[in-house]
Amino acid sequence: MKITSKELRKKWLSFYESKGHVNIGAVSLIGDGSTGVMFNVAGMQPLMPYLLGKKHPAGKRLCNVQGCVRTVDIDSVGDASHFTFFEMMGNWSLGDYFKKEKTAWTFEFLTECVGLDKDKLCVTVFEGNESAPRDEQTADYLAGLGISRDRIFYLPKSDNWWELEGTTGTPCGPDNEWFYPIANLDRPVFPDDYVEIGNDVYMQYKKTQTGYEPLENKNVDTGFGFDRMLLFLNGLSDGYKTDLFAPVIAEIESLSGKKYDDGGAPQRAMRIIADHTRTSVLLIGDEQGILPSNTGAGYILRRIMRRAIRYCRQLEIPSSALLALAKIFIREIYNEAFPLLKEKEDYILEEIAKESERFEQTLNQGMKEFEKCVGGLERKNEFMAKSNPAYQKETVIGGKQAFRLYDTYGFPLELTQELAAERGLSVDTEGFNVCFEEHKEKSRVLNKGEAKGGLESHSEKATAYHTATHLLNAALKRVLSPDCNQKGSNITDERMRFDFNFPRPMTAEEVKAVEDMVNEKIGEDLPVEYKEMSLEEARAQNFVGVFDAKYGDVVKTYSIGEFSKEMCGGPHVARTGLLGKFRIVKEQSSSAGIRRIKAVLE
Ligand code: ALA
Repeated sequence: MKITSKELRKKWLSFYESKGHVNIGAVSLIGDGSTGVMFNVAGMQPLMPYLLGKKHPAGKRLCNVQGCVRTVDIDSVGDASHFTFFEMMGNWSLGDYFKKEKTAWTFEFLTECVGLDKDKLCVTVFEGNESAPRDEQTADYLAGLGISRDRIFYLPKSDNWWELEGTTGTPCGPDNEWFYPIANLDRPVFPDDYVEIGNDVYMQYKKTQTGYEPLENKNVDTGFGFDRMLLFLNGLSDGYKTDLFAPVIAEIESLSGKKYDDGGAPQRAMRIIADHTRTSVLLIGDEQGILPSNTGAGYILRRIMRRAIRYCRQLEIPSSALLALAKIFIREIYNEAFPLLKEKEDYILEEIAKESERFEQTLNQGMKEFEKCVGGLERKNEFMAKSNPAYQKETVIGGKQAFRLYDTYGFPLELTQELAAERGLSVDTEGFNVCFEEHKEKSRVLNKGEAKGGLESHSEKATAYHTATHLLNAALKRVLSPDCNQKGSNITDERMRFDFNFPRPMTAEEVKAVEDMVNEKIGEDLPVEYKEMSLEEARAQNFVGVFDAKYGDVVKTYSIGEFSKEMCGGPHVARTGLLGKFRIVKEQSSSAGIRRIKAVLE
């Protein structure tokens, strides 16, 4: 490597520090919700209030290298240049310097600091429209620096205007974008042989409902793609060859016995595994770390983790390989830029292992189920084509089937779509959404206690909570009194509520003891066993239950190791290790003599 990732970060920061900027460091990758996006997609995002006029405590000249997550292009990951995570080298003027200094400094950084050839650089500027004038000023400054006029191009708003799409009240403006030729071509032609390496946005407008209004301050917002620049400076054209990925790819090669450079499907799988593992590590290990779940940002994380797991299977490596890869990112590649990862290493690895186990449990079955769907379609097509030569083949997997794959086997819809696409098929997403909504409605009704007869909603999360109520029930009997009995429960995908009889509030120590005991049993990864037997036999074996079963009935029982024995309709997870961490959020009165616990699995 001519320049390592660690050196490049330092170069950027020390260059702008030498120009009076304060390094404000990076913030969380998780969006603060202010713009409605889940992740930070640009270095400027956390600085929005300051670009709009608020005073920044660190002054008017700022710089950093900020991690960003963009998942819109997730389907393109697998080629040489798309990633779900990247870093942006940024610097800002908050109403301080403007175009003259900015063009000069970017030029100096590119040509003197990292040694790009000034005669190969191309720059584009804004051609002007009804909102803002043609940017002759920037073009003049660029020409003044020695960039020949035939390398400066005027482009319309679609190219040279930067704003956060779909937002209002956010800062924006015209920009100039910097381009460099892809490889060592003799006479590279713009734009075909060029890629953008970064841009300087002149943020002097605010986006409103109807158009743009001038801001009080004229700001500069610069962003250069760190990963891309690294590629360039090292004369590479494949992002997975830089030191941000190379050791991870080498590890996948050695685990799989396949060669990255052989290309084809294995190479694509290696890239997807590497990219997705990196993003998972960074999201779980973030200061506002998230975990895989079925909603919001957690769902996106789950999607990428499960996608990585599926590609491990394609390479015939166990998904536990992800742990080895995660360690390389944590210990070697991002140890300086993201030191928090090291502190959270055990936690990150544990969470990756848990999600892998969860998905591995159902992946085989799910794949079989998927093959059944495809087989069904193929047979039907074959049959119909025989009797009717004009028959149009069916190529869509039903929404119900996709929903079943999601609900029962934990296949994110996008995974099913991807599997389908590999077979030349598509998925009825509308049908899927209908099933999804119906299912939500059913859970809602159940949660309001309007339906009887146990737990019909078996989302993975609800199932986990259901099993956790058994552990809680057993722990309460041990910590408080054997006379404590369950008096009701209510489960959503987000939390559980559990009512039981006990004459006084629990002490903090008791709450902690119960919580610890449940977590201990989760830690022991006890099997959850199902058996049917007569009510008499169940009673004789000390199964407890809130069912009003009659003498002679056959009842369903679940035992969790030796710890808990309950009569119950299920469903339950297979082992307690799948539950996550149990935390009691609240203990309060429910009604006379009845206490209520609210708890979550994290
Ligand atoms: N905000 C600009 C970008 O994201 C710098 O490219």
